[in-house]
Amino acid sequence: MSTTFKLDTATSRAHPTPQPMRRLTVPAIRERKHGGVTEEPIVMLTAYTARQAQLLDAHCDILLVGDSLAQVIYGLDSTVPVTLEMMANHAAAVVRGSYHSLVVVDMPFGAYEASKEQAFESAAYLLKASGAAAVKLEGGAAIAETAAFLNQRGIPVMGHVGLTPQAVNVLGGYGARGRSDAEAEKIVDDAKALDKAGAFALVIEGVVEPIAIEATNAVSCPTIGIGASAHCDGQVLVTDDMLGMFDRVPRFVKRYENIAAIIEKTVAQYAEEVRNRRFPTEEQTYQPKD
Ligand code: KIV
Repeated sequence: MSTTFKLDTATSRAHPTPQPMRRLTVPAIRERKHGGVTEEPIVMLTAYTARQAQLLDAHCDILLVGDSLAQVIYGLDSTVPVTLEMMANHAAAVVRGSYHSLVVVDMPFGAYEASKEQAFESAAYLLKASGAAAVKLEGGAAIAETAAFLNQRGIPVMGHVGLTPQAVNVLGGYGARGRSDAEAEKIVDDAKALDKAGAFALVIEGVVEPIAIEATNAVSCPTIGIGASAHCDGQVLVTDDMLGMFDRVPRFVKRYENIAAIIEKTVAQYAEEVRNRRFPTEEQTYQPKD
């Protein structure tokens, strides 16, 4: 697949350039799962900035502007303090940096739980301000009516069941869900309720594998797993986790690289060269013209 941006060598800045590459749509993602089977698993990663989106776009089906930006970008302890404005600004940057992937934006805590009308106002604001195509809501049966309300009014909804980080104060932590029969049954029921409400896809996060499989088999829309199962119809990870930007990551993360080590080594070299007056050299300075 061709890249979706061009590097301007004069300024060293990446300029997104429209490519003859159509952006994936919500129906195209929904239709990946036919008759309970998904031949091509859905590839989703989180993105928060334009440059990150440019690098991920050609390889992904969905870029999720996750409220995990709380921890990844803002150094917050949880996703609870995230605001609509934070989500809108990062989502707009991700839309500007991508041409191919469907961009889905998380509804932050407090922006949709009070009523379906509140949810509509928040979601409409996010889509208008950013150009993203869909929103993601955490919760199951309790927000199914809201999901249907949004969907019927032109706002596609991705659901999110199992471990729902915005509920950390109720759950008491980020441990895997679905270990008791009651919890397992609730997760499957939540998935079914959102499927029935018209969700075009469902994130299943941090659940014991048999429950992720049962929920995937119980719904007609694709499921996207994180700490769930390879049997899900797609997978998502927090990009900065899989790239190795953090020392501690959840057990379900596979670290594909150690980018933090590369950054530290590179910055140490820069600092050493500045301190020893070895940077900048003639190559990086402007000399008078003869
Ligand atoms: O906020 C986020 O990044 C998410 C993913 C982990 C699914 O919701």
